[in-house]
Amino acid sequence: MSEPYTYPRKGSIDDPLRIAVLISGSGSGLLSLLKHQQSNQCPHVTKLIISDNVNAGGLHHGGIFEISTAAIPLPRSSDKNQQRTLHENLIHEKLINSKIELIVLSGYMRILTSVFVKKWKGRIINIHPSLLPKYPGAHAHRDALADGAEITGCTVHLVDEGVDTGEIIAQEEVPILEGDTVEKLQERVKRIEHQLYPKVLDDFCS
Ligand code: GRF
Repeated sequence: MSEPYTYPRKGSIDDPLRIAVLISGSGSGLLSLLKHQQSNQCPHVTKLIISDNVNAGGLHHGGIFEISTAAIPLPRSSDKNQQRTLHENLIHEKLINSKIELIVLSGYMRILTSVFVKKWKGRIINIHPSLLPKYPGAHAHRDALADGAEITGCTVHLVDEGVDTGEIIAQEEVPILEGDTVEKLQERVKRIEHQLYPKVLDDFCS
């Protein structure tokens, strides 16, 4: 049986929810969130950036915005399950030590185990570059193009024990244009994601 969602407390401008953003890559979504938090009074504040990829470009945003960052790569282990557990334990410990109240996945390319999800369920939010339940997984744009879809988009959803299956909070459509490639489509969808995610977080946290 899957666990119910336990939502975070309400954040306020005086006492914003403490967010950790988990990334794996360029962190353009992270950057849009940090700019949003800098120029608006928000009920959330980013207190920690974690990447599983030590070379993630997005880690640099932490330095610029003076936010703690942690690169936590997969520890060495020949046992894959043990490796995932050890990795998530390190992340969990860091989140607890930093008093994090909400985990924001923003281009985090690892699937979280159900053990980890259960600890945070209702307090992990993700953005996915398709109109879920269409095109879950790591190749949403490729799959949408291969399917001949005319419309795709992005979805903000809570994370549950499945892959891109959690409760949907918000979606926005993006048209697929003639001559689109994965790269062109990704760019166009990201522009929408960068507006949608901060707005949804404002609502979700308050
Ligand atoms: C975004 O398209 C997001 O939806 C997906 O990964 C991408 C992250 O891009 N999960 P970036 O690292 O924020 O540039």
